[in-house]
Amino acid sequence: MNDAPIGIFDSGVGGLTVARAILDQLPGERLLYIGDTANSPYGPKPLEQVRSMALNVMDELVDSGVKMLVIACNTATAAALDEARERYTKGMGIPVIEVISPAARTAAALTRSGRVGVIATAGTVNSGAYARALQGIPGLNLTQQACPRFVQLAEAGITTGPQVLDVAKEYLEPLQAAAVDTLVLGCTHYPLLAGPISYVMGRNVALVSSSEETAKDVYRELAARDLLHSDTQAVVGSGDDDGAAGTGVAGGVAGSAAFGADGAAQGVAGAAAAGGSGLAGGAGGTNAVKQVSRQGGAQGASSGTATSSAAASGKGASSATPSGEAASGHEFRATGDPVAFQVLAKRFLGPVVGQVRQAHATGGAGVKNLDREIRE
Ligand code: DGL
Repeated sequence: MNDAPIGIFDSGVGGLTVARAILDQLPGERLLYIGDTANSPYGPKPLEQVRSMALNVMDELVDSGVKMLVIACNTATAAALDEARERYTKGMGIPVIEVISPAARTAAALTRSGRVGVIATAGTVNSGAYARALQGIPGLNLTQQACPRFVQLAEAGITTGPQVLDVAKEYLEPLQAAAVDTLVLGCTHYPLLAGPISYVMGRNVALVSSSEETAKDVYRELAARDLLHSDTQAVVGSGDDDGAAGTGVAGGVAGSAAFGADGAAQGVAGAAAAGGSGLAGGAGGTNAVKQVSRQGGAQGASSGTATSSAAASGKGASSATPSGEAASGHEFRATGDPVAFQVLAKRFLGPVVGQVRQAHATGGAGVKNLDREIRE
């Protein structure tokens, strides 16, 4: 057992799609998320530079005491995975989870024709990381396409509407021409645009997002190393007894408590339903949880569901400790403007995001030195 947070990062909001899946599958864990927005986008930059920036962010996460690192970014995975495993896993015993092999695994399982498409950043496409990861698919016919404007759109909070559709039609044309039956969203920003992407590709093309499989890897690794959190209720945090209970997190906790009390299957089902609908919730009220934990099965489940509507009304969204840790127990930081990141993160992950703090890892020194080295 280990109650330290899981460290997770991306160039910006894309990694929240992975964070969401981790919170769905592991509602008892705490996250420490860094959006490296000062250095976003990673995609068009040389891999050397991305490696330096990613390692700076991971150093900050490790210095903050995380028990695991999740590289919730394909470009950073392509650029820095080997060095990260060397530095943190071999050197310090901290496991590093990435997003490329989970997506490749899923694509291999889904494709019927072997015609697989990958859309990703230019950095990821040019790294050849997906070509290597997908090698095992029999008769593989791989079509790759860089889609840099998808990242810009997601970082601007624009994920639906005519502009996205126009860009999607342009980018996806070569994938349609190649008749792929499976399309890997090889950038963690892209699941935020899954609606328009699927609309353009059509129902018969399976979209693969690495989030769910990556979250399973997180569970697998935590369980194998005995690093799972000891208490699901810890995620509710200390602060806000009067706050409205959050959907996902509080719902999940409610169900666990109900299960603990009575072992009632209904309680667990209720928790799953509330938790599943859930990451838009999150700022948990401990009153609600304590109350539910005294109740048990069926009542626990209905209380879990009731918290959904409380969270859906947006109450309890802003509670956070002075350190920036939300009442949900999760912490979010950005290397760029924390307020701008908070607005977007709340849009994509919901009120589980509390106050956002300034990250120390601006990529500054390391990246400037690297720039100088490249020029010289
Ligand atoms: N979300 C990132 C990825 O998965 C990077 C996007 C970017 O910064 O260009 O590759």
